[in-house]
Amino acid sequence: MSLITSLQWMVRKGFWNGVARAKYRMTRPKNVTTVAVRRSPVTLIPFTESFPAIPVAGIRVAKQVPQDERQAVAEIMMRLFANFCRVWSPMQAGRPDIATNPHQALDEAYSRPHRRAVLRKAAAVRLDPQRMLRTPTMPVELQIPADLGMLALRGPYAGYLRKASHSPDCFEWDIEGLRSYSHHSDLYAPWAHVLFKADPAQASLIPVRIRCELGSVHPRDAHWALATRIAVCAATTHTALVRHWTWTHLIGGEYFSAATRTHLAPDHPLCRLLWPHMVGTHTSNRLATLGQLMPDGDFEAIYSLTYSGLCQLIGKAGQDFNLRSCDPDEDARDRGLLESGLPMQTFWNCRRIFRVFQAHAERYLRLYFADEDIRTDQSIRNWLSELTRLLPNGLGLASAPLTCAALARVVARFMYLASVQHEQLGTQLWNYQLWAHTHPVRVYRDGRRLPEDVYQRLVNSNYVLNVVRAPLLQDYAPLALVETGRPERHPRAEAAFAQLRVDLARLQRKMERKPWAPWTLYPADLEANINA
Ligand SMILES: [Fe+2]
Repeated sequence: MSLITSLQWMVRKGFWNGVARAKYRMTRPKNVTTVAVRRSPVTLIPFTESFPAIPVAGIRVAKQVPQDERQAVAEIMMRLFANFCRVWSPMQAGRPDIATNPHQALDEAYSRPHRRAVLRKAAAVRLDPQRMLRTPTMPVELQIPADLGMLALRGPYAGYLRKASHSPDCFEWDIEGLRSYSHHSDLYAPWAHVLFKADPAQASLIPVRIRCELGSVHPRDAHWALATRIAVCAATTHTALVRHWTWTHLIGGEYFSAATRTHLAPDHPLCRLLWPHMVGTHTSNRLATLGQLMPDGDFEAIYSLTYSGLCQLIGKAGQDFNLRSCDPDEDARDRGLLESGLPMQTFWNCRRIFRVFQAHAERYLRLYFADEDIRTDQSIRNWLSELTRLLPNGLGLASAPLTCAALARVVARFMYLASVQHEQLGTQLWNYQLWAHTHPVRVYRDGRRLPEDVYQRLVNSNYVLNVVRAPLLQDYAPLALVETGRPERHPRAEAAFAQLRVDLARLQRKMERKPWAPWTLYPADLEANINA
């Protein structure tokens, strides 16, 4: 390799690492407790009208960012970088593979300046040390080879496991849908179907067959390790592009915010309850689209799909969004897991947090509404019917008459989407994707490891995903409505908001009695919403 290409790489890497650090430094936790003074209806338009360079069909986005969310300078900068990326890319063809030792590979890409920026940011915003970005920790299940059985039960991919229909003790990951989208020819196609068998003696899952581009592969076959890598690649590709980006941001987040802003006035009690979990969504989705989904953006550079395959996937996968996946009990029931007897650590973790949200929402709603009021409140009816219309698969509400408890469950699902689901499918990948030796975002046909430009892009993209956002554990009392006709209700609403913090802090303390683990979702780590 010539001295000139090495120098070019040094300059290129230095510049784009500087851009990633600047994004990290410039993002401040949002104030999520100040509600806009006026109602700010959102008109949704086809994605391609907002982003003509990105051929994603079937998804709608806000025509304009609401006034109270606007970040004009940040948007100009993001457009500038998205265009500059095409002129002077962060990628440089011909770079060598990353180091064989995963810790060395990480140290070379996650540089001291990256880490210094984290410390400085934490000091600048007086961040609770518990919430500071830790250096990635390798989960035990990512030692060689990756333990698919454990990955299926805890961590970001736990949501893929479902009961297989043909046998009572068989389970599966079905990530075959990705085979419909074009991928780069030097990479294995990022799709797989994994069949697991329950091992009651060990209370665990054992992968017994992986179907992928290599054919049907079994544990004793020579290609088992390679098939395992392809399966992990399929899971992480689907998680990042579909579950995190398309479902959580573009569908769940965007439509939730649009319906809330359009149908609930700022002084409607339900708006106050939802506000911290949606404010900032439209501007944040816009900025992230410019960084990740433009041609030559992060998604195209990191994952296995071609640009047209990527855009087709996002447009099509949006239709599979189901809000019930944000309701751990309903989701586990849908996947046939409730009575499975498996040690579903992530499910238990998520369910405990969901139940805190559910209790909070119901406690708060009952301050303002009886079941009958819920059914007759025109704003709530409009909000519900708009979301039923917009969300693929609707709200998943039972057809029985609407009650406070049922509405609280819907509210809890949106709170869960914005905090727990976003953490699990987005920021938590920090502890998974950077261990590329067993957790590859691409699997090369010639057996090479990730080239260093792809890995650097992956590190920077995950780094920016972990910017400091508004914490979930905070004081929401300023959201409590002051009503001239009902002055006694204001302190009770403040107390209801305070109780959420008390309950989450109690859960945090309980969880801290066990050793920290990279797959665990702690209330203290969660954010109020998906927005940066
Ligand atoms: Fe995100």
